[in-house]
Amino acid sequence: MWLTRWIVTGATVLFAVGCSGDKAPSLDTRTAVQLTAEQHNAVLLEMRTMLASVNGALGATARGDSVAIRAAANASGMAVAADPALEKLLPADWLKLATQTHQGFDSLAVASGGGRDTVVARLGRVTTGCVSCHAMYRLTTR
Ligand code: HEC
Repeated sequence: MWLTRWIVTGATVLFAVGCSGDKAPSLDTRTAVQLTAEQHNAVLLEMRTMLASVNGALGATARGDSVAIRAAANASGMAVAADPALEKLLPADWLKLATQTHQGFDSLAVASGGGRDTVVARLGRVTTGCVSCHAMYRLTTR
């Protein structure tokens, strides 16, 4: 009987500790950028668009399809960067990396007919921006 009670108490304590996970400090030491749920969603949507651009450009490069490379790159160029109201909330270094990344897509679009090596080199430069920013920042929702 005492054993059952001990197990139930122990399980309850473990459950309570587990449920307080929200308040536990994050193990992720990157700088947290706090956004509203809507802004968070908008940033992640932009991220998925950029991943689709990288994927589209790689597939098109393998096929030697420069028109498709340009279209994939243009989908993530400066013209489609996050809206200015959102940009005001983001740290300066974030904006610098974001601008470099969007400009990298523009430069990829310009180089789309330049041959496989050129396109792959531009893609390498673009993805350096992804890697640098992901190493520095994480998003949280307020
Ligand atoms: C200026 C900063 C920055 C740049 C540049 C950037 N990202 Fe991100 N990205 C983030 C942050 C921050 C997150 C959220 C990570 C987190 O909270 O753990 C994220 C999340 C993502 C996600 C997850 C989306 C989801 O729906 O969960 C994808 C995919 C992604 N990025 C792709 C890319 C690709 C591809 C590039 C480059 C072409 C890129 N990102 C460039 C900051 C950036």
